[in-house]
Amino acid sequence: MSELGPGDVRRIDTPPIAVFNVEGALFAISDICTHAEASLSEGHVDGQTVECPLHGACFDLRTGEALTPPATEPVQVFAVVLQDEDVYVEVESD
Ligand code: FES
Repeated sequence: MSELGPGDVRRIDTPPIAVFNVEGALFAISDICTHAEASLSEGHVDGQTVECPLHGACFDLRTGEALTPPATEPVQVFAVVLQDEDVYVEVESD
């Protein structure tokens, strides 16, 4: 994927991953909230956290940790590689 500027969020559909550009730092986490089925790419980003749009749980974009209820389980995080202008997310295949 390319053209992911500061403040931008992009969703990858398969597997569902949300990629965030926070002031030039790239983070990739599972796009599915661990509390229910909300899409975290539609959430509000505040610093290096994202707030679930459905019930407001906050997740750390760096670690995936659930910081506030109602979510208690972390979301999976993925490594992001920047090559030239393109952004790649490393997903392990089964
Ligand atoms: S679905 Fe995300 S906090 Fe409930």
